[in-house]
Amino acid sequence: PALQPYVDELPIPETRRAAGELAAISGTHRYHRDLPETRSWGFGQPVLGPNLEAYRDHVARISFRNELGTHVLAPHVDLTMHGVTELDRTDPRFTVHLHGGANSPDSDGHPLIGWRNGGGPSLAYDNRQEAATLWYHDHAMGITRLNIQAGLAGLYYLRDEFDTGRDDNPLGLPSGEFEIPLIVQDRTFNADGSLQPMVATYIPEGYNQSGQLGDVCCVNGVAWPRLAVRRTVYRFRLLNGSNSRPYVFEFSNGMLFFAIGGDLGLLDGPAPTPSIRVSPGERVDLLVDFSGIKDGETVDLVNTAWNDLGNTVFMVPELRPIMRFTGAGDGPAASIPCTLRGGPGQPDALEPTRRPGSVRTVTLLGLNDDSRAAAVFPTMMSLNNLPFLSSDVDRARAGTVEQWDIVNTTPFDHPIHLHLARLRVIGRQPILTSAYFLANYPPKFGTRWAPSADGFAIGPEQDPPPWEAGWKDTIECRTDTITRILVKWPSVQELGFDPDTVVPVPPGAEAMSPTGEGTAGGMADTPEIRGYVWHCHNLDHADHDMMQQIRVQP
Ligand code: C2O
Ligand code: CU
Repeated sequence: PALQPYVDELPIPETRRAAGELAAISGTHRYHRDLPETRSWGFGQPVLGPNLEAYRDHVARISFRNELGTHVLAPHVDLTMHGVTELDRTDPRFTVHLHGGANSPDSDGHPLIGWRNGGGPSLAYDNRQEAATLWYHDHAMGITRLNIQAGLAGLYYLRDEFDTGRDDNPLGLPSGEFEIPLIVQDRTFNADGSLQPMVATYIPEGYNQSGQLGDVCCVNGVAWPRLAVRRTVYRFRLLNGSNSRPYVFEFSNGMLFFAIGGDLGLLDGPAPTPSIRVSPGERVDLLVDFSGIKDGETVDLVNTAWNDLGNTVFMVPELRPIMRFTGAGDGPAASIPCTLRGGPGQPDALEPTRRPGSVRTVTLLGLNDDSRAAAVFPTMMSLNNLPFLSSDVDRARAGTVEQWDIVNTTPFDHPIHLHLARLRVIGRQPILTSAYFLANYPPKFGTRWAPSADGFAIGPEQDPPPWEAGWKDTIECRTDTITRILVKWPSVQELGFDPDTVVPVPPGAEAMSPTGEGTAGGMADTPEIRGYVWHCHNLDHADHDMMQQIRVQP
């Protein structure tokens, strides 16, 4: 259905302390004035969840509970995918991961462990990290893309002594009604209001690994909303919570705005820019100065991403409008701060320099696989040429800093996310992928393959843009490019726990076998699940094979 943009108000999720109980429930939600009600899921509300607020070094204990009932996207629950059974249509699994939180394995929402109706995990978030815009979302293996699309996602504001969230914060950041969460998600709606999670209906379930691209942009669960703004500076905590779509955000009048933070905290100082690129899973913290806006004047937030992608065929449909701001009266005097937190221990204190001797090459591949109908959609996305449930599990050492060279040989961009670690971008360098393949073609799927691509560079390494310079947990890896990143694994001392413990399967939970063997659907009686995962945050890719387990050993 053709929907008129900017007719509904932007809803602002309630902010509440990260504590107590939070049920994942089923409900109905109107995404647009002219759409029928949509069956949806949310945390304690019909869609999405409250902004959970926590304070540095204060443990937050939350009991999540599955009260979802039947799957609102049941026809799309795909039985060919890892661990998915018929039961996921009528009594779906769920789990909760705090994205960006350095949490113990048993509070990390491991995708191999899930809870059905009536059950749920009790999680402890240690919050031993700087203020940042984290987010929580479902992570149940094989159905994450559907569970998040149905609405299981919310923001988590971690505060500290700099970013207190109060008017008197030492950095002079906008707070209260001037600090606004923006959860951006593209969606496709059927005429009856239901969600259409498939990118193209001619690709059978199980083979669609291009990802979901919607033709409607929702912000905080409303299609193309509008927001009245006063003449002052606003702080927007923006999450790209889309399944697959990267955005380049700009304002329709071309005005500069200021990035003040990324995934894992504030930058040293505001980075002025007219546009910012944000991939699925990434967050940006933005200051926007509306002090010149006249009453009734409108400025739109727009997406220009399709223009700068190498291959536009993957970005259909285009999605330019995002939301509209309308001037509505005076606001408090405000200005853009000159510096943020800076100083020792802050991001720039660890220069993103190369780490000779600790370079790990990893590959992003999209190759044929005999076990699937490759002729229908001839790519299967993987990491290092391994299936998700490979016995060749990655390992890292707590307390070390590595350099990862992520070689993307596919025609897609992939946002790569590591649990537990803190990441920084060193740089990105284009390669000639065909020559790389000719020199050493990957063996059969299932055998690790990740040779260095340094010899196949076809241009200089590009520095990250200033707004991408801080600590991150999700990094966009562009097509035909080596993306070099620093990976900092926190030490046992910093964490306060051993990150390599076996994740217990509590009563009421179900576990998939970490080696893919076991009972029907891969469910295991006595699994030994350890550690963490790293994966592509294109959720269709993550639900297939673009995820690996990683043990982080003391
Ligand atoms: Cu946002 Cu492993 O996820
Ligand atoms: Cu991907």
